[in-house]
Amino acid sequence: MKKVSVHALRAMKGAEKIAMLTAYDAQTASFLEAAGIPVILVGDSVGTTQLGYSNTIPVTLDDMIHHTAAVVRGVTSSFVIADLPFMTYQLSVEQALASSGRLLQETGCDAVKLEGGAFRAPTVRALVDNGIPVCAHIGLTPQSVKAIGLRVQGRGAEAADRLFADALALEEAGAFAIVLEGIPAPLAARITAALKIPTIGIGAGPDCDGQVLVVSDLLGLGGAYNPKFAKRYAEIGAAITAAAAAYKSDVLSGAFPDADHSYLE
Ligand code: KIV
Repeated sequence: MKKVSVHALRAMKGAEKIAMLTAYDAQTASFLEAAGIPVILVGDSVGTTQLGYSNTIPVTLDDMIHHTAAVVRGVTSSFVIADLPFMTYQLSVEQALASSGRLLQETGCDAVKLEGGAFRAPTVRALVDNGIPVCAHIGLTPQSVKAIGLRVQGRGAEAADRLFADALALEEAGAFAIVLEGIPAPLAARITAALKIPTIGIGAGPDCDGQVLVVSDLLGLGGAYNPKFAKRYAEIGAAITAAAAAYKSDVLSGAFPDADHSYLE
């Protein structure tokens, strides 16, 4: 399959829905690419799904570089977006350029994603002007969990108008796509209709140009955690526990390894 480009993604708006998933390692990324997933996000959700943190705040740029490089090694055609983690782009435009530069140079990823509304437009503009494709992210922005919690954003006319203006400003600044997380479906539909760039929804209803899910939610790896916006397509967590229990039982009984799994000479 041909490598997916920024231009190809922009051209998908209005023509074809975009199915995006997160991944954090080469093996999972290769499975997603084999399923025809055109865009893989190495989200800072790596912190909660892989590293055992309760939110994304502790994730470092080195964590993101480590996991993004692995994902890039696992794919040939899928477009890979890496999250800029907390406080690696907020301090200044120079910091955002340096952090994004490291992500692109040290991992081979195709674009970065950052959180924030219109106030982030100058940063987006500087990155884009320096050849770094940027995916924006507004609505429920998990790096602001301490300030806004994990609540749906953009409820009520004033908050909705603010998010709408944010989306327009980020498009104007040069973002090639925008993630809309945790906002009412009618607001996501309004933003999607107004923008020329694709909107990618998570908890933002069916009218976005694409959807993104955290792969652990899709696969049932999150145990009891099952947010309303996520759909489980498999129960891999339960399958892992069952396989490990069957293995333990075989080891204890001596059923494993048998002759088929031993070198007999
Ligand atoms: O970190 C992440 O996985 C994300 C998605 C939820 C959009 O930002």
